Amino acid sequence: MIAAAGSGERLGAGGPKAFVPLAGRPMVEWSIAACRAAESVRSIVVACPPGHVHDLAGGDVGVVDGGVTRAQSVSNALQAVGTDLVAIHDAARPLVTPELIDGVVATLVEDPQADGAIAASPVSDTIKRATAPEHPGRNAYPMHDMGNALRPMGEVEETVDRGTLWAAQTPQVFRVDALRAAMAGDPERVAAATDEAMLIEAIGGRVLIHPAPADNLKVTTPVDLRLAELLLAERSGQ
Ligand code: CTP
Ligand code: MG
Repeated sequence: MIAAAGSGERLGAGGPKAFVPLAGRPMVEWSIAACRAAESVRSIVVACPPGHVHDLAGGDVGVVDGGVTRAQSVSNALQAVGTDLVAIHDAARPLVTPELIDGVVATLVEDPQADGAIAASPVSDTIKRATAPEHPGRNAYPMHDMGNALRPMGEVEETVDRGTLWAAQTPQVFRVDALRAAMAGDPERVAAATDEAMLIEAIGGRVLIHPAPADNLKVTTPVDLRLAELLLAERSGQ
């Protein structure tokens, strides 16, 4: 399942992020191609933004309308899933490879007691927990403009041990029964979830970490788009 129904506000490309041109194709097409080439993938369904369903319809890919929240988009697409396992992937991660998808699936399949497995990267920065600033803080600035903030954004309270911290990515693979149960939980928590693993964790499920390659980046801001463009151009030149 590919979540592609976001509006791409932080990218600011004037249209939905998944359909922004990237190295010669709409961004979502890179993820579709990786899913097609993955041995573990049987069928593909994409949650599309309003007005873009027809861009993908008619091919080998199932298409559903996305929702206002990511969770709603995933929930819509989940209705079209008829397998025991589902891999959820963000269209915003166009550098995903068939090997990574198959790898995360294999990690889950090898542990019958686990409910999910997620691609994740070890955190490399030193991580600080800071006080919330009194003046408008982090959320008042768009991420790409953070470097222009004129005042300190809080004071360091502590350094968090990064040895056990992982940045969660996609693909995220789940047993469909567990995911359906997780998504039937508290609607507010479901709507606020930024990934599906959070919801599995909230019902006491087990989620395994599958280390992702360094280039499985997420396109959020214009600088990410430039980097993705360079990396994909390099790949297709090989
Ligand atoms: N997504 C979705 N449906 C939504 C919101 C997000 O399918 N209602 C998908 C996006 O298309 C993206 C993934 O979830 O592939 C991760 O979301 P994000 O990177 O936040 O994308 P956008 O929500 O489009 O970007 P922004 O938050 O900057 O508006
Ligand atoms: Mg978003």
